[in-house]
Amino acid sequence: MRTLIKGGTVLSTTGGVLADVLVTDERVTAVTEPGEFETADTVLDATGKYVLPGGIDAHTHMEMPFGGTFSADTFETGTTAAAWGGTTTIIDFAVQAKGTSLLSTLDKWHEKADGNCAIDYGFHMIVSDVNDGTLKEMETCVGAGVSSFKMFMAYPGVFYSTDGEILRAMRKATETGAMIMMHAENGIAIDELVAQALADGRTDPVQHGYTRPSALEGEATSRAIALAGVTGAPLYIVHLSAAEALSAVAEARDDGRNVFAETCPQYLYLSIEDLARPGFEGAKYVASPPLREKRHQADLWRGLRTNDLSVVSTDHCPFCFKDQKELGRGDFSKIPNGMPGVEHRMDLLHQGVVAGEISLGRWVEACSTTPARMFGLYPRKGVIAPGSDADIVIYDPAARQTLSAETHHMAVDYSAYEGFEITGKVETVLSRGKVVVSPDGFAGGAGHGNFLSRDLCQYLN
Ligand code: URP
Ligand code: ZN
Ligand code: ZN
Repeated sequence: MRTLIKGGTVLSTTGGVLADVLVTDERVTAVTEPGEFETADTVLDATGKYVLPGGIDAHTHMEMPFGGTFSADTFETGTTAAAWGGTTTIIDFAVQAKGTSLLSTLDKWHEKADGNCAIDYGFHMIVSDVNDGTLKEMETCVGAGVSSFKMFMAYPGVFYSTDGEILRAMRKATETGAMIMMHAENGIAIDELVAQALADGRTDPVQHGYTRPSALEGEATSRAIALAGVTGAPLYIVHLSAAEALSAVAEARDDGRNVFAETCPQYLYLSIEDLARPGFEGAKYVASPPLREKRHQADLWRGLRTNDLSVVSTDHCPFCFKDQKELGRGDFSKIPNGMPGVEHRMDLLHQGVVAGEISLGRWVEACSTTPARMFGLYPRKGVIAPGSDADIVIYDPAARQTLSAETHHMAVDYSAYEGFEITGKVETVLSRGKVVVSPDGFAGGAGHGNFLSRDLCQYLN
């Protein structure tokens, strides 16, 4: 089965060139001068469109247990929504509950995802119980294609690890070459601020932001970097939101360290003003780290340009406003933490191109190529080149759309970007050569997506 994508501008990290792309079965077999091949079984006309490697969202939470409930997207609904938005790979988090093993956790996550995903998927492992058994199991996880481990400096009593536990896990990461991913917020100090706010009767959603100041993200980020330095472990700061944290990452990178970071669209486009929306509306925007003051946004865009922020992921963790966010009415600390976004990352970052914040090449790099290399998937994913999986998006840069819960495909009853006017729209999506989204609608299905066994990070020095 041969598919020819003709007449488009093929994008990579270096920008765009006019070229045709030939796909044979699941793989790209040629990228040629325009017109070199005339026909194929299927011909897709991409004239005037971008042809780019499918997006890789390296940070999602489908069906994630949190605060007595589960994130609203299943692996089926979440990966279907991702495909609609031009994302063809997700890396989701298996979550070790305290007292359980990493391997039983991994089995559980395979049960949830296998046969249910519309696009390819991999796993990171959340380590919340560091002990001799867990440390040994980290080696087995790496062998099973799960080569990155998220730890938390926040959420004492739930996911939190002490500095000593982090140090032990980092030593194991150094030994195995695995990546430590860090949720860097000082949870001990935050819990104190939360208790004080509640004692004072300050219970609104905006208090979530006030009790998690950016200084405590900066402090935790610096501490994580110091611990990684002592052990030699590679470190990836997840969902970086604050200028202070970015400075710490930039300094480490200037020193040549294996320190990396991602940010998320919500930190580029939304702010604490959204958390402060009247009534209980702000609950829609409760995620951790919290949305920051607008002044942080310019720093984050700069970080994306300078590669101090190398990846944009969504931290997609949707909870319905009705029923789920409701759990925290009258007590902001009980609002499930997380926001929806897996469907909109490619579009929102394309706005960065339209606004002149980042180049076309950087859009592709931060949303596809770098996550592939960061998490051991390149060149199978993250590039349009002979031999690569034919995960391809045809994107119309001139189309206009308005984001809304009325039209999105995520299983959540609100959009964090309701009413956002977007220039550009996904037209067609191929996942391993199969058209899963076309102008006629969704043509994919649960079970098409395969588990991706990942190698180690490809940036380590
Ligand atoms: O608020 C968030 N970010 N929820 C998802 C869990 C996490 O910390 O990434
Ligand atoms: Zn986190
Ligand atoms: Zn997350």
